[in-house]
Amino acid sequence: MDPPRTAITIVIAACRFHLRSMRHLAHPRRIRQKRLFLGPVRVAGHTVALRSPRLGDATAWREIRLRDQRLIEPYWLTATDDWDRRHTVTVWVGECLARRRAERSGTALPLVVEIDGRFAGQCNFECIDPAALTAQTSVWIDSRFARAGIGLAVGGLAMSYLFGTLGLRRISAAICTENVAAARTVQLLGCRREGTMSSYLDVGGLRRDHDLWAITSEMWQQQQLLRAQLEQVAGDCCRNR
Ligand SMILES: CC(C)(COP(=O)(O)OP(=O)(O)OC[C@H]1O[C@@H](n2cnc3c(N)ncnc32)[C@H](O)[C@@H]1OP(=O)(O)O)[C@@H](O)C(=O)NCCC(=O)NCCS
Repeated sequence: MDPPRTAITIVIAACRFHLRSMRHLAHPRRIRQKRLFLGPVRVAGHTVALRSPRLGDATAWREIRLRDQRLIEPYWLTATDDWDRRHTVTVWVGECLARRRAERSGTALPLVVEIDGRFAGQCNFECIDPAALTAQTSVWIDSRFARAGIGLAVGGLAMSYLFGTLGLRRISAAICTENVAAARTVQLLGCRREGTMSSYLDVGGLRRDHDLWAITSEMWQQQQLLRAQLEQVAGDCCRNR
């Protein structure tokens, strides 16, 4: 090997080594290649985590989605097939494989919610734009765990990863104007309502208005800082009693 080429090779190797933490920005395909597990955290006596979907989640997914049809369907995209036919094992496997392909191309991050080690919902990030560093999210959780703070824990785990580890800049969610539970959850997570999109999506068999909710990485960081300060003050108060 002639000396100039050796020098160039060493410089390139050194640059690659020092820029390794930023590579996912230039190569969105590398956003994530391994199976993911986020958490766990303890919420209301439960262990809550997020992980990559498995083909074997099909049965639990079908059972919960059929049981919770009344709560989920009004806010889910309208389809020609009825709810039962939309929740077969074959449909899950097809969706799972399609999402994995999207994930490999850097445009999606599919996650499932695990409560006490069992499948209990989904928290998907789609339309990831690797150049703009933006994503859209949708979530649903088994109603047996409703109003226990699990939606907030799931949002917190996901945002820490998307803003902190992946370096995204903005996450948005289109929420039906009548979906009080989802609106309250994203508001408590620090999202801002940016406006109403008239007749935006066909959900539950009807074309409905949706509010656009969004949070940026700056808003998320400020909120984390504020939370840490409040916890510090609360800790000091307890110690001084
Ligand atoms: C939206 C959803 C994920 C919230 O999950 P959750 O685990 O019940 O949420 P949390 O317990 O963390 O509650 C967060 C806040 O929302 C409020 N909330 C939850 N369900 C509510 C309801 N049915 N009505 C009013 N407020 C509700 C909680 O009270 C809490 O606010 P608070 O602290 O001021 O009391 C869940 O209701 C769900 O899966 N809904 C069906 C699917 C759906 O609509 N997904 C959104 C489409 S993108």
